[in-house]
Amino acid sequence: MTFLEEVERRRTFAIISHPDAGKTTLTEKLLLYGGAIHLAGSVKSRKTQKHAVSDWMEIEKQRGISVTSSVLQFDYDGCRINILDTPGHQDFSEDTYRTLMAADSAVMLIDIAKGVEAQTKKLFAVCKERGIPIFTFANKLDHYGKNPFDLIEEIEQVLGIRAVPMNWPIGINGEYKGIYDRMHHTIELFDKDETHGQEKLASTKGSVDDPMFKEILGADIHQALIDDIELLDVAGDQFDFDKVQAGELTPMYFGSAMTNFGVKPFLESFLELAPSPAPRQALEEVVYPTSEDFSALVFKIQANMNPNHHDRIVFMRICSGKFEKGMTVLHRQSGKQLRLSQPQQFLATERTIVEDAFPGDIIGVFDAGVMGVGDTLCMGKHKVTFGDFPVFPPEFFARISPKDTMKRKQFIKGMMQLAQEGAVQIFEQPHSLDSYIVGAVGMLQFEVLEYRLKNEYGVDLLNHTLPYSVARWVGDEVDISSIKGLDAAMVVKDSRNRTVILISNEWQMNWVQERNPDITFLRTPKLHDN
Ligand code: G4P
Repeated sequence: MTFLEEVERRRTFAIISHPDAGKTTLTEKLLLYGGAIHLAGSVKSRKTQKHAVSDWMEIEKQRGISVTSSVLQFDYDGCRINILDTPGHQDFSEDTYRTLMAADSAVMLIDIAKGVEAQTKKLFAVCKERGIPIFTFANKLDHYGKNPFDLIEEIEQVLGIRAVPMNWPIGINGEYKGIYDRMHHTIELFDKDETHGQEKLASTKGSVDDPMFKEILGADIHQALIDDIELLDVAGDQFDFDKVQAGELTPMYFGSAMTNFGVKPFLESFLELAPSPAPRQALEEVVYPTSEDFSALVFKIQANMNPNHHDRIVFMRICSGKFEKGMTVLHRQSGKQLRLSQPQQFLATERTIVEDAFPGDIIGVFDAGVMGVGDTLCMGKHKVTFGDFPVFPPEFFARISPKDTMKRKQFIKGMMQLAQEGAVQIFEQPHSLDSYIVGAVGMLQFEVLEYRLKNEYGVDLLNHTLPYSVARWVGDEVDISSIKGLDAAMVVKDSRNRTVILISNEWQMNWVQERNPDITFLRTPKLHDN
């Protein structure tokens, strides 16, 4: 296969959903079709195995939420598919955002009974901002749920994206007989006792109005289906490939991951419509995936996947060029040449060492602490830096210190490593040596921090919540003592020694801004501002 063909056949996407919408089940079914696993239930057991390897994910079990994102790869119908799993909980939406930076499209999973849930909203917002194609899978069709028309309406109202149903449920809510494929004019009949290979029938007429369908479905249900489809054809959005690519229209699929219903048609349609790796804007130039110069973006770091070894795995998305095991690349941020040894890929239930990989693929490599989230690796004639990596402004703050001052060394090491993963941001208050000010996007991050510091570094923490919810960066040229109205604020330094002001709320911040009209207060630090 040529390099170009390898790039073309890649589909790299993230699945976003509210916890319990069925992401694990859907992922498992997709892997099953890809032949990557042979038994349903293996992904669940993958979850369990991961717990065994990585103790700290215990917290995920306890709270029933998905804390970290993982990566899986499999082949289907000539395509090489990379699935990026994302945490469902909103406190981890920063993690999701980063994962989306590595994806070329996203699948939004919705439970038809619950519709668009609050957490999906937040995740969707980050997805939309990224401007990638979004596909919607409305899951749990075997159960009673919202009326499909209402669901479309809800997606449009709540999320602000038009939806075009690619298939449509047939029959009565809660007892659907199957789905009608609007593009191929086929019906797939749902059999509750049968978990594989539902019956699929194609219209010989090429329309819903086929006497054969009437015979199978019965006159009433068939008529209701004809009416629904007519309404969709007349009043609904038409499928528009360009709008899908621009993330302005979401193709919507109905199905049931658990009963395997509508999953295969979804996968096949998705693979047809989802984009292969797209060009990326770097600070210097546009990077084309088909360029022979290797480049990759670090989007996730996980320390202590194996706590006994204190290893640190850096996950990168290959953006251009071919990756070969053991190659030496330039780490843009430090200027160091790094050898990427022991590169790993995650194939369903196991990790394997990769010999080569292509744009769109995700690989994990061991790193001694040089790389950070958002960093660029490159090689060849063109030196590039991917600069559009998002930093979320923290909204929760706490003063964190070790309970036992003798553990100071482990405390600093642990805090530094976990901050490099990007889970929390660390600030220092001048003259305060024994504690850090920690900022996070969600409260849950503090629990994870506490848990991991104890389990991975043996440090018990003292956690003192601070009454701030807003952070603003100010330039080095600004004399802090000249800023008016900072009495209730705290002035700290971030990990790059930039000045940050922490203040209780937006209202107060606006007041400070009004009193200091000449000073720019930034919501996020300037990127790659070394
Ligand atoms: P998540 O990763 O998004 O959190 O969801 P997960 O797949 O773990 O699914 C959450 C629950 O929803 C599971 O039930 C799962 O079996 C169920 N589920 C998934 N897809 C469907 C579907 O199409 N129809 C129906 N009716 N249920 C579905 P559970 O009771 O929490 O777990 P389990 O005992 O079934 O494993």
